[in-house]
Amino acid sequence: MAKTLRVLSVASEAFPLAKTGGLGDVVGALPAALLREGVVVRTMLPGYPAVMAALASASAVHVYDSLFGGPARLLAGQAGGLDLFALDAPHLFARTGGPYDHADNALRFAAFSRAAADVGKGIVAEFVPDVVHAHDWQTGLVPAYLHYDGGPRPATVITVHNLAFQGRFDGLTLDTIGLPWHAWGIDGVEYYGAIGYLKAGLALADRITTVSPTYAAEISTPEGGMGLDGLLRHRASVLSGILNGIDDAVWNPATDRHLAARFEAGHRAARVANRVALRARMGLDATPEAPLFGVVSRLTWQKGMDLVLAELAELMDGGAQLAVLGSGDAGLEAAFVDAARRHPGRVAMHVGYDEGLAHLIQGGADAIVVPSRFEPCGLTQMCALRYGALPVVAHVGGLADTVVDANDAAVASGVATGVQFFPVTGEQFAFAIRRTLSLWQDPARWRRLQARAMATDVSWQHSAQQYARVYRESMANR
Ligand code: ADP
Ligand code: GLC
Repeated sequence: MAKTLRVLSVASEAFPLAKTGGLGDVVGALPAALLREGVVVRTMLPGYPAVMAALASASAVHVYDSLFGGPARLLAGQAGGLDLFALDAPHLFARTGGPYDHADNALRFAAFSRAAADVGKGIVAEFVPDVVHAHDWQTGLVPAYLHYDGGPRPATVITVHNLAFQGRFDGLTLDTIGLPWHAWGIDGVEYYGAIGYLKAGLALADRITTVSPTYAAEISTPEGGMGLDGLLRHRASVLSGILNGIDDAVWNPATDRHLAARFEAGHRAARVANRVALRARMGLDATPEAPLFGVVSRLTWQKGMDLVLAELAELMDGGAQLAVLGSGDAGLEAAFVDAARRHPGRVAMHVGYDEGLAHLIQGGADAIVVPSRFEPCGLTQMCALRYGALPVVAHVGGLADTVVDANDAAVASGVATGVQFFPVTGEQFAFAIRRTLSLWQDPARWRRLQARAMATDVSWQHSAQQYARVYRESMANR
């Protein structure tokens, strides 16, 4: 048995304490999965009000008289099933609103990264990590601080959950965020004349991972690299794609308290009760013969939600229903509300974020639509597989890696689990809908696809093993 590794996982979200999307799910689920691989994880979060409330009785393990403009404390404790450090810095994090709705994000996440680097260097004697694992731009400066501090340091790994969010700040000075002048440069934090937090992490971490093998390849090309492909190609030897899993305690149809009826893979009949409940809850007509398509998504260009609206007629003409849960772009929200008004009983829209309804849609819809223009990994199609809703997805990123398209050959050999389309255009999406509707015409075949989908391994086990290997290699190659 290899030596136990200690990892500090540093992130701006962790389910169930703070979540705006899949990043929170992943950061929340990894520690339990890694523990089974002999890796002990402490998670470090900003001290948002929800985190502070959950850690009400926690003890301070370090005090900063001043950290980027105000006093701060590092708390250690347990909450939400996680072993946590929280940076209690009221001048930066004691605020209402979403975690990123603030004009001083550059300073907030620099301070957070500075404190995480301090923990990395052993400021808290009871937990001195072997590896610091940073997630996304908010923590991109962690490897930079550890690099420029000099002296002994833990190994560093950064994971890209979404290259579209880069944390590029114009007009910010190195002095403000406590980095030396020589950090400015192509090998450091400079990024097109500004300071780039994600760029800094990608340049200076010992290892880089992203959340699917296909996305790892896509971001290394000019088309998918969003300005960072040159750097990623330069660092190709330390870049790997590790597919996300889903938390099988949170997403388990056999125990899910959000469902009207719980079910095992072999007893899918109970899905019918969930379809009935979903229709009732969203105000859709009780027409059992109509295939029910679902969407659970941020409403953004990335997710291709405009394509769903543009090709709505394809679903309506095909006799289908559509249940949408999402929030984001105001124009898209309004357009879905309008679509529901135009097709009462056949299109339903719930604007907002609703954990319980997300589970009911997964358990009650016949198919889940994910027409993303790009998708680093995507979790909703994995939840759909587990819950027996067939994913209808664009063939990009992690969607390409997790769904097996129901073409004739794949159906014949019994490996198909959903429907894929490419390129990501309205025309191809419409074709995918027609293919899905035609699969629906044959109930026995649909049931076979559903059974195969539910048998897909969407757990963290394999991926946790790969992370453990990357951690060990990062220490060896540093
Ligand atoms: P992303 O992180 O890009 O938004 P993912 O598919 O990785 O996409 O993760 C999205 C996560 O957020 C899933 O757990 C999904 O169920 C959840 N989610 C997205 N939108 C909503 C919503 N409106 N209500 C509840 N959960 C949502
Ligand atoms: C990002 C990506 C999504 C991925 C998630 C978790 O939000 O958009 O594809 O699943 O991070 O890694």
